Amino acid sequence: MKTWNFGIVGAGLIADFHAKAIADIPNAKLVGCCDIVSARAKELADKNNCQAFESYEELLKSDDVDIVTIATPSGAHMEPTIAAAEAGKHVMCEKPLDVTLERIDAMTEAHEKSGTRLGGIFPYRFNDSQTVLREAINSGRFGVITYAGIYVPWWRTDEYYKDSWHGTWKLDGGGALMNLSIHMVDMLCDVMPPIESLQAYTGTLGHKIEAEDTAAAVLRYTNGALGVIYGTTASYPGRFRRFEITGTKGTVIQVENSFTVWQFAEEKPEDEEIRRKYGQIEGGGGVADPAAITHDNHTRNFKAFLDSLESGKDFWISGAEARKAVEVILAIYKSTKEQTQVKLN
Ligand SMILES: NC(=O)c1ccc[n+]([C@@H]2O[C@H](COP(=O)([O-])OP(=O)(O)OC[C@H]3O[C@@H](n4cnc5c(N)ncnc54)[C@H](O)[C@@H]3O)[C@@H](O)[C@H]2O)c1
Repeated sequence: MKTWNFGIVGAGLIADFHAKAIADIPNAKLVGCCDIVSARAKELADKNNCQAFESYEELLKSDDVDIVTIATPSGAHMEPTIAAAEAGKHVMCEKPLDVTLERIDAMTEAHEKSGTRLGGIFPYRFNDSQTVLREAINSGRFGVITYAGIYVPWWRTDEYYKDSWHGTWKLDGGGALMNLSIHMVDMLCDVMPPIESLQAYTGTLGHKIEAEDTAAAVLRYTNGALGVIYGTTASYPGRFRRFEITGTKGTVIQVENSFTVWQFAEEKPEDEEIRRKYGQIEGGGGVADPAAITHDNHTRNFKAFLDSLESGKDFWISGAEARKAVEVILAIYKSTKEQTQVKLN
């Protein structure tokens, strides 16, 4: 079995989770990392027994590296992603892929041109409860879906926004939505038909940052269903995230990785077991503390990428797929700015 050698670009908070995920995959190995702050790269390299490089350009020169994970601030994903394509390396890029559609499209084009792969990192898609929910939706158990909405009432301290990039338009691309609620926006993109149009308001109410810390949008999907996106980082002390979906034959309320409601007009034998298995609310790490998450779903995300490379099949969270959540969030910002309904492509 081939061992896939990884390099990590950006050695901050999430890089540690990438290193742990890579360590958990038998046919993956972390061989190098870099950061513009060389002490951070050295610390990550020492901890993981790999090489610290001075820059991503140096890391990409290494013949050892097959796949690069991008863990720089969100508005600094494009440059290393394109450079990696030009160096013949595959890329797994953190959410959001980048902060504008133009930058994302340039990333996708660079990988198409070089024949390398660009995969998105959206760990929530790999939660077991999301898999069970996806199956129920795809098998038509909700009847006519009439509503699907997400609620992300989180809390971040002023300290969180004191670094050089969180809450800035240039490097975070937004605030509560683009950085955090995007996980849940992507879960809507995963299981629902595309959003046809939306109308939104955002506010910067609880923090002194450039971008929004609170947002609310009303949606209409292409199948006619309605929905809501609510995301904030100004809701002390931070509460569990929630996904509600309902239709003419069923309702599910997913809270974190659990279900507080799992009810269908046509009950199936497995429903009782699903209610039992997912009845206890678990997770909740990210509601107020960005580091209180596990790396398990990163492991699944990375493993799925390797499986797709080995099988030659398309990767589920391709560049085009990971782009969708950014497109929705940018439409919310546009609707707010122009005080109008925005139609999506
Ligand atoms: N999937 C998740 O659950 C999750 C969680 C947290 C963060 N993220 C994403 O990961 C990315 C990084 O977030 P973070 O919290 O680790 O940020 P961070 O600030 O802790 O780390 C970013 C690191 O990148 C370095 N850097 C900046 N420009 C660079 C460059 N050109 N070359 C090399 N290094 C560079 C910085 O010096 C810093 O050490 C963001 O896009 C964020 O949205 C994802």
